[in-house]
Amino acid sequence: LDEQIQILDFPDLGDERGNLVVVEGGIAIPFDIQRIFYIYGSDTEVIRGCHANLRSEFVMINVSGTSKVKVDNGHETRIIELNRPRMGLYLKSNVWKEMYEFSADSVLLVLSNEHYDPEEYVRDYEEYLKMVRK
Ligand code: TYD
Repeated sequence: LDEQIQILDFPDLGDERGNLVVVEGGIAIPFDIQRIFYIYGSDTEVIRGCHANLRSEFVMINVSGTSKVKVDNGHETRIIELNRPRMGLYLKSNVWKEMYEFSADSVLLVLSNEHYDPEEYVRDYEEYLKMVRK
């Protein structure tokens, strides 16, 4: 898992006017950004994600509020709390992820190196385990 995920700490370019965080593809983000989506309005009981991606890599940023991400590579799991706008969670492909415990003000921004393609989503956990354990 250590080679598959990474916590990114973005510099704050803020001054007395407020904070400013820049995330540039290929610089702060380890890939060229092809897709951006954001998740908000998810209740604290909701569990999202529950899939792995054959090609997509992601950087997740809670630009507002907090959430938790459980990552799993079929051998090891880890729980990461996204709790500050300058923190990014970089996930390489083929990592199973579940996002949960969204705060009421959570806005989870997600950047990816790939356009959306439902064919590269593995949504069955047993199938995922077979894939990564063989
Ligand atoms: P889903 O993958 O279930 O979201 P999450 O990973 O947060 O649980 O996606 C919800 C719906 O949105 C589903 O119908 C697919 C669609 N979708 C796109 O069309 N493009 C995208 O980039 C994403 C992430 C989802």
